[in-house]
Amino acid sequence: MEQQKRYGHFDDQHREYVITDPQTPWPWINYLGNEDFFSLISNTAGGYSFYKDAKFRRITRYRYNNVPMDNGGRYFYIVDKETGSQGDKTIVWNPGWKPCKTPLDFYECRHGMGYTRITGRKNGVEASVLFFVPLKKWAEVQKLTLSNTSSETKTLKLFSFEEWCLWNAATDMENFQRNFSTGEVEIEGSTIYHKTEYRERRNHYAFYHVNTPIQGFDTDRETFVGLYNEFADPQAVMEGKPRNSHAHGWSPIASHYIEVTLAPGESKDFVFLLGYVENEQDEKFEKPQVINKKKAHALIAELDTTEKVDKAFAELCEYWDALLNIYKVKTGNDKLDRMVNIWNQYQCMVTFNFSRSASFFESGVGRGMGFRDSNQDLVGFVHQIPPRARQRIIDIASTQFPDGGCYHQYQPLTKRGNNDIGGGFNDDPCWLIFGTVAYIKETGDFSILDEMVPFDNQPGSEVTLFEHLKISMDHVINNLGPHMLPLIGRADWNDCLNLNCFSWDPNESFQTTENVSEGTKAESLMIAGLFVVTGKDYVALCRKLAGLSGKSGISGIDFAAEAARMQQAVDAMIEAVKKHGWDGEWYLRAYDFYGRKIGSNECDEAKIFIESQGWCTMAEIGAEDGMVAKSLDSCKKYLECEHGMVLNNPAFSKYIYEYGEISSYPEGYKENAGIFCHNNPWVIIGECLAGRGNDAWSHYAKILPSYVEEKYQTLHKVEPYVNCQMVAGKDAFKPGEGKNSWLTGTAAWMWYTVSEFILGIKPDYDGIRIDPCLPETATDYTVNRKFREADYEITIHPNGAQKGVKTITLDGQPISGTVIPYSPGKHTVEVTL
Ligand code: BGC
Repeated sequence: MEQQKRYGHFDDQHREYVITDPQTPWPWINYLGNEDFFSLISNTAGGYSFYKDAKFRRITRYRYNNVPMDNGGRYFYIVDKETGSQGDKTIVWNPGWKPCKTPLDFYECRHGMGYTRITGRKNGVEASVLFFVPLKKWAEVQKLTLSNTSSETKTLKLFSFEEWCLWNAATDMENFQRNFSTGEVEIEGSTIYHKTEYRERRNHYAFYHVNTPIQGFDTDRETFVGLYNEFADPQAVMEGKPRNSHAHGWSPIASHYIEVTLAPGESKDFVFLLGYVENEQDEKFEKPQVINKKKAHALIAELDTTEKVDKAFAELCEYWDALLNIYKVKTGNDKLDRMVNIWNQYQCMVTFNFSRSASFFESGVGRGMGFRDSNQDLVGFVHQIPPRARQRIIDIASTQFPDGGCYHQYQPLTKRGNNDIGGGFNDDPCWLIFGTVAYIKETGDFSILDEMVPFDNQPGSEVTLFEHLKISMDHVINNLGPHMLPLIGRADWNDCLNLNCFSWDPNESFQTTENVSEGTKAESLMIAGLFVVTGKDYVALCRKLAGLSGKSGISGIDFAAEAARMQQAVDAMIEAVKKHGWDGEWYLRAYDFYGRKIGSNECDEAKIFIESQGWCTMAEIGAEDGMVAKSLDSCKKYLECEHGMVLNNPAFSKYIYEYGEISSYPEGYKENAGIFCHNNPWVIIGECLAGRGNDAWSHYAKILPSYVEEKYQTLHKVEPYVNCQMVAGKDAFKPGEGKNSWLTGTAAWMWYTVSEFILGIKPDYDGIRIDPCLPETATDYTVNRKFREADYEITIHPNGAQKGVKTITLDGQPISGTVIPYSPGKHTVEVTL
C-alpha cells in the first residue's frame, strides 16, 4: 500500500485544521462568508469570491480543472534580496508557497471557522495573512502582517494580485469576442475599482483596496504578467517594477505595489480589502463615466485599520462560539468530539450556504439548489439558525406544483424553479415533510404550517404550508405502480437510477430525458421506505395538531381524520413492501419498466442496494418478521468494506439501458458501487433503531473524517476534516480515494445520525427525547444542548449497554418515559442505560 504521509493535524483548542505541507494531495480548501459575500480559499491561497450567486456575481476569476490544478487566487508576492557567496540575489516568494513555489523556511495554513490564516517564512521575513469575511460585510479582508525576524534592516517590495471575473462565471469562460473588449477599471489612490459593464444593465462594481499609500499598481493582466510568463513569474514582479497599467478591455486585474522597510524585529500590518458594492440606478455615477464610490469609501472606512479588523475578526469568532455552543458533547474520545463539536457542524453550515453550487468539484455555474438536497441539509443547521431554516422551507415549498410534484431544483438568486431540469423525481415531495417536521420539533413553531405558500411561485395560488405537506403525501399515494409501490418517475434519491429514460443517444441527458408514456410502471422501494418514515411523521404531526386544535390556527381540517387516513396509507405501503419488496435476505431496490426485480439475488449484478436497506430499516418494515435484522446483516456481508458501505454489490460491469446512468460509471465510482457517503447514515440509523450499537458505531467510524484523517491522508486525497460525497468503493481501482468534498448531504446526515441516534438527543414537539444507541465500549458522556429557551446539561451513563434508557432524572427528580418535557431555563439531566 502507498505510504500514508501526513500533511496536517487538528488543533481542537483553536477549532482549526493545521496544514504543514503546502503540497497536499489535492487543494484543501475552506469557506469564508456567512450570508451574502463568499470566498473559497485553498491552502495555497487559491480560489475565488462571489456575491450571493457563484454563477451570476462572480467577483474574481478561477479556472477549474486547470494545470496546475489550483492556479489563480489572491496572491502576495514578496521580493527580497538574499546575500550569498556570489553577492546579492533577488528572491521572490509567496506566504502560501504558490504560485512561485519558492521553497519556504516555514509554511503553515490554518483553516478555522470562517477564516484561514496562511503563514510563510523566508530569509528572515515572516508573512502571515489572515483571510476572512466580516459578519454582514460585503468584503473579504486580507490582513497581511510582515515581520522582519532577521538582524538586518529589510527593504522589501510587495505586490498584491487579484484577477477580476467579468461577473457571469459561465460567459466569462467562453464569449471572448465580446469579453476582451468590455473590461473597465478606475484607479483612485490605493483602490482599484472593477467596473466592467457598469454602464449597461449592471448596478454593481468591485474594488481592491489597501490601507496604505502605494508606490505603483497594475490593472492589465498581460502587462503585469507578460504574455509568455505565468502567475509564478509575472514580469512586473520579477523585475520589481510595476507598470502602472490601466486596463482597457482584455483582462482586468488588480495589483498594488508597496515598498516596505522593516527594522530588525519590526512588524507591519497591511489591510487589503476585496469589496463589492451595489448602487441605486439614479445614483450610479458621480459624474459622467465616473462611478459613485460613496459606498465603497464607507465600507473601506469600516475596515481600514488593524484595530477595526481585529474587532471584526473577534465578532466572527464570537458568532461561531455561539453557534457551536448549542450542541456540545464531551465523551473523552477526541476524534468523536472534534467532529461533533466542530467540523461536522461547520460543514453543515457551509452546505446550508452553498447547497451544491460552489466547491472545488462544483464549478458554481451548474446546478441550482436541489429540492431534496435542501430539505435534507436543513436537519444539519436547523438548531443553529432556525429563522433561516424557516425561510428556506417556505422558499422550497414555493416551487411545488399543485399536484404535489416539485421542481427538482431552483435558483438561489431568483428562488424560481429551474425549467431546464423540471420535475418528476418522485421522492422529492416526501422530503418537504422531513425538513418541516425537523424545523417544528426544534423550534416548537407550529405557526409555520399556517404560512400561505404559492405553487410554482405564482401569486394568487397560495395555500397553507400544511396543505403543501398534505399534497406531498398524496403525490406518492396518487402515483403507485403495479405492485402498489411508489412509481419512481425520473429517479428517486439516486439520480442515476433512470428507469424511464431508455437512452442510447450519448448526447441526451440522463437527468432530463424521460420516456413519459412508459413512466407508469417502474417502482421504487426506496421511496416506499421514505414514504413510511415521513408518513409516520406526518401522522404524528396531525395527531399533535388535533390535540392543539383551535390553537394551530389552521381551520377546516379534521386532523384526527387526516391522521387516520394517512395511517391507512402507511399501513398499506408496509404491506406492499412485505409482499412485493422482500427478496429473502434483503429488501429489493426497485421494479423496472418490464416488472423485473432490481437489487435481487436473481439479478446477475447489483443484487443488493443500500438505499432500500436504509429506508426500509429506518421504517422498521417487517422488523417483527426478522426482515430488519436480516437486511442489516446483509449490508454488513455484501456492502461493507474497509472504507464504508458501497451503494450496490456487485458493481455493474456494463451499461444497461433500462437502468440508465447508474450503469454508465466504471465499477466502484459514484452511484455504481462507490461508497456514496450520504446513504451510509441511513443504514446506521436502521442499526440504531434496531438497538445494534456496536454495528452502528463501526459503520459510523469508517466514514468519520477524523478516523480517516489518522490513517489515510494520502489515499483519501481530499480534505480530511470534512466528509466527501464519494469514496471509491471496493470494486474501484483505488478503494478509499475520496472525491467531491464539502458540499454533500452526508454532512447533515452524519450530524442527524450522531446527534440524535447515536448520542441520542432528539428534539421532539414537547421536549427532548433521550434514546442513545452506543457501542458497548462507550463510557459516560455529557451533552450540553440549548433547546428553544432552555439549556440542558445531559449526562449519560451507558453501563455497557447498547440501547435502552432505564432511568432519567430531571433536576434531581425522576421522570417517566424518555422525553424531557420542555421548560425554559437551565436543567441538569442524568440518564442511565
Ligand atoms: C445529488 C442528490 C442525489 C445524489 C445521489 C447528489 O449529487 O445532489 O440530489 O440524491 O447525488 O444521486
